[in-house]
Amino acid sequence: MPLVRPGFSVLSDAFAADPYRHFARLREQAPVHYEPAVDSYFLSRHQDVGRVLTDHRAFTTETLQARAEPVMRGPVLAQMTGAEHTAKRGIVVRGLTGEALREQTRGVRARAAELLAPLLARGRMDLVGDFGKPFAVQVTLDLLGLDRGDWRRVAAWHSGVAEFITGLTLTPERRRHCMECAEQLESYLVPVIERRRREPGPDLISKLCAAEFEGTALSVRDITALIINVLAAATEPADKTLALLVRHLIDRPGQLARVRRDPALLPAAIAETLRYTPPVQLVPRRAERAAVIAGTTVPAGATVFCMIGAANRDPAVFADPDTFDIDRADLGTARSFTAAAQHLAFGTGLHQCVGAAFARAEIETVAAMLLPLLDEVRYRPGFRYRETGLYTRGPVSLPLVFTPVRTPLPEDATPGG
Ligand code: HEM
Repeated sequence: MPLVRPGFSVLSDAFAADPYRHFARLREQAPVHYEPAVDSYFLSRHQDVGRVLTDHRAFTTETLQARAEPVMRGPVLAQMTGAEHTAKRGIVVRGLTGEALREQTRGVRARAAELLAPLLARGRMDLVGDFGKPFAVQVTLDLLGLDRGDWRRVAAWHSGVAEFITGLTLTPERRRHCMECAEQLESYLVPVIERRRREPGPDLISKLCAAEFEGTALSVRDITALIINVLAAATEPADKTLALLVRHLIDRPGQLARVRRDPALLPAAIAETLRYTPPVQLVPRRAERAAVIAGTTVPAGATVFCMIGAANRDPAVFADPDTFDIDRADLGTARSFTAAAQHLAFGTGLHQCVGAAFARAEIETVAAMLLPLLDEVRYRPGFRYRETGLYTRGPVSLPLVFTPVRTPLPEDATPGG
């Protein structure tokens, strides 16, 4: 294996084009890679990433204070600790599991059916631009109880917020643009929160309005931040995971045929997609005190980035890690969407994703509707696959061609079905 060259950078174009080509070398030769341009350490081994994400005293989410709070307009879950984190996280979890999740899944099916119908009839679609992006944003708006008709402007503000949180090197102009997006999103949300306080509905915003912490209702600022937190956390990884799942299956016709025949294989295919190509590639933490990781001393106060994509392909944990295999025995589908997950796509520890069950339901529902209908599916002729993103990563587009679907979607896939 070639050496990690002096001057190698995770900020280089070569790395951005295909990070997966570099992970084995990083894990073996530079498992704690220092990146001077952003004065941060990048960890690539599963064991080290797991340690950083679960040793909450030594490695805190303090980094997110600067990274997220300005655009979230208030304190976000990821930066909270102790009783406040447990209580507020609990409110969000209750709004995304159990009966609430069953109701939301019906909404997901309705939304998918509505958006897919015209695309299926055409026999071609860009799974990312025509479907995945609008779908993920609209589903999140439904979940929050926001007006779906506003999805385009909410999506535009959201992308500014996301750019602020995930941009490793932002120019002052981009920072200004991101802050404007956040301010507009806040101005849009505050009247909605005030309305829901007076007239609650079944949605997550109403649940946040009704919730209390230490005997006091959450403030408008707290609720705004939690809404933006969910909006920012929910949309991007979901649409990327769906596109990545379909890509991996199209590239492996044998596995695609099996999943099309037997949707019970979908959870394994989704879990393996999350392991093989996690849409959230970096999770930051701050070292509260000096720590020795894989023989390298990380100084107190340092920013440490957990490289989820590299950890998920660590041969110490997954056999033949660079192979996508829905039958792999070392993943454990049932636990892949829980706190016991072996892959780290949802993070691990106290801040592990609160939306994992929702994400599974969302992706599984739409894939179960879509895949059986895609006869003779292939890429549009001449298409060249391209992924972007260092922090969150996914296909730029996925133009598909397939036999047009003349019949309406199955009964249980129609709105409200
Ligand atoms: C495939 C889809 C998803 C992936 C891969 C994903 C990934 C992640 C990761 C890696 C974290 C941990 C961040 C950290 O430790 O600092 C996280 C946290 C979080 N996720 Fe997700 N996520 C997904 C979908 C969702 C959805 C659908 C929602 C909401 C409906 C959501 C809401 C959140 C929230 C609120 C947090 C912060 C939790 C806390 O700090 O306690 N995510 N997610």
